[in-house]
Amino acid sequence: MAGNDVLLEVKGLKVSFGTPRGAVKAVSDGSFSVRRGEVTGIVGESGSGKSVSAYAVLGLLAPGGRVEAGTALFGGRDLLALGEKELRSIRGSEISMVFQDPMTALDPLFTVGSFLTEVLRSHSPKTGRKEAWEKSAKMLSVMGIRDPGDVMRRYPDSLSGGMCQRVMIAAALLCDPQLLIADEPTTALDVTIQEEILSLIQRLKEERGMSVLFITHDLGVVARLCDRVTVMYGGFVMESGSAPQIYEEAAHPYTKALLSAIPRLDDKGEEPLAALEGEPIDPIDLPRGCVFAPRCPYCFEDCLRTRPRTLDLGGGHSAACHLVKKGGRADV
Ligand SMILES: Nc1ncnc2c1ncn2[C@@H]1O[C@H](COP(=O)(O)OP(=O)(O)O)[C@@H](O)[C@H]1O
Ligand SMILES: [Mg+2]
Repeated sequence: MAGNDVLLEVKGLKVSFGTPRGAVKAVSDGSFSVRRGEVTGIVGESGSGKSVSAYAVLGLLAPGGRVEAGTALFGGRDLLALGEKELRSIRGSEISMVFQDPMTALDPLFTVGSFLTEVLRSHSPKTGRKEAWEKSAKMLSVMGIRDPGDVMRRYPDSLSGGMCQRVMIAAALLCDPQLLIADEPTTALDVTIQEEILSLIQRLKEERGMSVLFITHDLGVVARLCDRVTVMYGGFVMESGSAPQIYEEAAHPYTKALLSAIPRLDDKGEEPLAALEGEPIDPIDLPRGCVFAPRCPYCFEDCLRTRPRTLDLGGGHSAACHLVKKGGRADV
């Protein structure tokens, strides 16, 4: 492994979307980092700003989306300050992305083989067809596909969801990116396939020293995979830390609530787990204080009045919570 130096460092990211109802504050303070050879997880319920953060970094925001503040340092360059042309050359070569729904990401008119060779040749035009075909087939076998030759000749509609996602990950890795961003890559797949894809990413990390930004709504999914975890809610970072800090010493009530919602192996299934209650915030009309305050069981006056600052808890662990600041810990 190339040491623990930081490959991507996003700080103070702020993204909004202009809509007829008003500005949607999709991300108000996004900060996270990925170190070389490590997996960072961004976790939070649907709508917390995970995908928008990733898209903003890659310059792929939907129409109406605007980066208002922040930096995203990647190999000495601020991705948020680059022009479209430079970003395009980084996307797919230095940084690749895998999306939630592999079925819709593949073009039904192309065989897997023609898709993969095209991906490879668009980035290295000098590669001959035969060489591109062989490299693609080899990448499919790295993905754990036993008969790559057969899969290469198939059309996407004859492949399972799990197989399509392997093809998408193969495509993402063909150009040997330094960073893979995976946005809920297993959410559309059933549980056993989900496990296989997670093991595959784990293996790619271990064998290739690949760096991954892994986005998911499920804190349970990242437990095994991630070295670091950033927990987001309502466009803000609630807590960040190493996986053990998050799983064993969670400080933020939101992290604790997410943790208590993970079904555990030792649960006999008798007791229903404390689910997160209340409605997620309206991103057009954010609460004045802590965005989690309206749903927080520990909410007190300060929480409704002011936004908590991010508090350094030492050892790379931090949380943004008034209760933590007061020295108290939310014991759920
Ligand atoms: N194209 C868009 N136009 C308007 N609002 C958007 C758009 N994309 C995302 N949002 C809003 O931004 C917030 C964050 O979205 P997103 O990053 O997709 O959440 P997550 O990936 O965590 O589920 C949500 O409130 C969502 O409704
Ligand atoms: Mg998303």
